[in-house]
Amino acid sequence: MAIAFHWLMFLLIAVAYATIELRDFADKGTLARMVLMESHKWSGALVLVLAVPRLLWRLFNGAPAPEPGPRWGHRLASLMHGALYLFLIAQPLIGIVMMNAAGRMLVVPILGIEIPAIVAPSEALNDAAGDAHELIGNAFYLIIGLHAMAALFRHYMLGDNTMRRMSRRR
Ligand code: HEM
Ligand code: HEM
Repeated sequence: MAIAFHWLMFLLIAVAYATIELRDFADKGTLARMVLMESHKWSGALVLVLAVPRLLWRLFNGAPAPEPGPRWGHRLASLMHGALYLFLIAQPLIGIVMMNAAGRMLVVPILGIEIPAIVAPSEALNDAAGDAHELIGNAFYLIIGLHAMAALFRHYMLGDNTMRRMSRRR
């Protein structure tokens, strides 16, 4: 389950990043722009939805002990994993706050169902959430990159089992 959650959410986050980066290739008001923005919002919102069962699963089932290595490395990995878990909740939540604060709602595409707003419209909140969403979004390119590099370093340089055990059931 933990492996399935990890890679499914990785895909959703990749879609969220790709769609927001590609949005400026489509002019405002075009269908392509709308599809890119809705895909961004909904892949991101799905991350938030899945974060809840993922964290509960992690809380009750724990994780296998890390592969052998220095204690500082394990501490650093735990810190990074903590930050990544926080990101799964915070980034989509801030995205939704930003929209609702601007007086806009999240609407299920095609079905047209409106998700109730979680905050009242407020220009100050919209600005603050917008800044935070941009800052965290950019910072996590780096954090996710370091996380992936650590995994690849373990696989190719140390030759340990960390990457392998993340890619199949043991
Ligand atoms: C894992 C989830 C998410 C990630 C990684 C993410 C990341 C980003 C990034 C990198 C930007 C570009 C910021 C910039 O440089 O201007 C952005 C913009 C935006 N995001 Fe997200 N986001 C996520 C979830 C959401 C959700 C759930 C919503 C709303 C439902 C949302 C709404 C927006 C909007 C409306 C913008 C455009 C802001 C603007 O340019 O005015 N995001 N997001
Ligand atoms: C959006 C991107 C990603 C996020 C949010 C993310 C998040 C996480 C989190 C929170 C954990 C800790 C699991 C736990 O012990 O509770 C983890 C583990 C892991 N991640 Fe990622 N990850 C991402 C992308 C990647 C990528 C691209 C790779 C590989 C290139 C990768 C490889 C791994 C590996 C190998 C583990 C297992 C570590 C172990 O077994 O102790 N992750 N990831």
